[in-house]
Amino acid sequence: MMLLDVKNLKTYFYSKRGVLRAVDNVSIGVDRREFISIVGESGCGKSTLAYSIIRLVDTPGKIVDGKIVFDGRDLVKLSEEEMRRLRGKEIGMVFQDPMTSLDPLEKIGDQIVETIIEHERVDKKEAWEKASILLEKVGLPGDRVNYYPHQLSGGQRQRVMIALAVSLNPKLLIADEPTTALDVIVQEKIMDLLEDMKKEDRAIILITHDFALAADRSDKIAVMYAGWLIEFGKANKLANEPLHPYSEGLIGSVPDVWEDRDIKPMLGFLPDLIDPPKGCRFKPRCPKAMDVCDKEPPTFSVDGRVVKCWLYGENNG
Ligand SMILES: Nc1ncnc2c1ncn2[C@@H]1O[C@H](COP(=O)(O)OP(=O)(O)O)[C@@H](O)[C@H]1O
Ligand code: SF4
Ligand SMILES: [Mg+2]
Repeated sequence: MMLLDVKNLKTYFYSKRGVLRAVDNVSIGVDRREFISIVGESGCGKSTLAYSIIRLVDTPGKIVDGKIVFDGRDLVKLSEEEMRRLRGKEIGMVFQDPMTSLDPLEKIGDQIVETIIEHERVDKKEAWEKASILLEKVGLPGDRVNYYPHQLSGGQRQRVMIALAVSLNPKLLIADEPTTALDVIVQEKIMDLLEDMKKEDRAIILITHDFALAADRSDKIAVMYAGWLIEFGKANKLANEPLHPYSEGLIGSVPDVWEDRDIKPMLGFLPDLIDPPKGCRFKPRCPKAMDVCDKEPPTFSVDGRVVKCWLYGENNG
C-alpha cells in the first residue's frame, strides 16, 4: 500500500468572478521513503495541492471531491480534531518563508518544545534536550535553542523550520518552495538536509518551480499545469525524455543548471483558471496542438509514466 494515494482530487476556490479550479482531478501516489517533486509555473496549483493534503486550504477554497488516502485513512473524511492530531505528527510541513511561521518573540527552543509537549508525554526538561538534539540533526549547534529567530540567517531559520517539521517524526514531509528565498549555496545545503530527512524512513514532497533542482534531487517528478497533473514519473526519465509538450517547454526554459535556476517563462501565459481554454488547457501555448485537443485529454500510461496529452492516445490523428 502506498503511503499517500491522492485520487481524483478537486480543490476549488469560490469567488465572485466564478469557480477557480486550482486542483482539478489530480491523482498522485507517493511511496514510503520516496522523494517526489511537484513542479510547474507559479499559479498552477502546487501549493493548493499541498495544503489540500494537510487540509489547510484557505477560504474561499474547498476540497470538492476526491480522496486523500494516507496510511490507510481517507483524510478528506477525518474530523478537524483528528486532522489537528495528525498534522505535525504524521505529516510535517515546511513553508517558503520561515518568518511567517516562527514567532519572532519566542526563543527557537521554546517553539520546538511547545510542539513536542503538545503531542508527546514528556516533561519540559526532556523536551528541551530533544530540541537541541533536533537542531544538531539539522546542522545547527544545539545552543541555538536559546536564540530568537532574528538572530539567525535565512538558511538557519529554514533549518529550524525543518527541525520543527520533523520534531514529531512524521512519515511524510511536505516542503513548499523551501529554498526560493535563499542563495544557491544555501539552497543546495537545505536540499542535502531534505535528503537526510528522507534517509530516516520518510517520504518527501518538494514543491518547486525549479525543474533542475527537482531533477537533481528527487526519485519522481510530477508536473502540474493549470490545475492539472500533466505528467508524472521517474525523475531521470522525465528530465531526459519529457513526454508532455509542457514538460518539454519547462526543461527547455531552464537556461543553465548551475547558474540561473529560475525558469524562464516559455511562450504565453498560464490561462485564467476561472475560465480556462476548452479542451486541453495547454492548447493555446502548445506547439504540437491538433484538432482533437479541443477535447480534454485523458491521462494515458506510457512506459511507466502517466501523461495527460492526446499525443499518446491511440486515435490522436
Ligand atoms: N486563497 C485563495 N483564494 C483564491 N484563489 C486562490 C487562493 N490561493 C490560491 N488561489 C488560486 O489558485 C491557483 C493555484 O494557486 P497555487 O496553488 O498557489 O499555485 P502555485 O503554488 O503553483 O503557485 C491560482 O490561480 C491562485 O490564484
Ligand atoms: S493534448 Fe494537444 S494541446 Fe494539449 S499538450 Fe497534448 S498535443 Fe498539446
Ligand atoms: Mg505555491
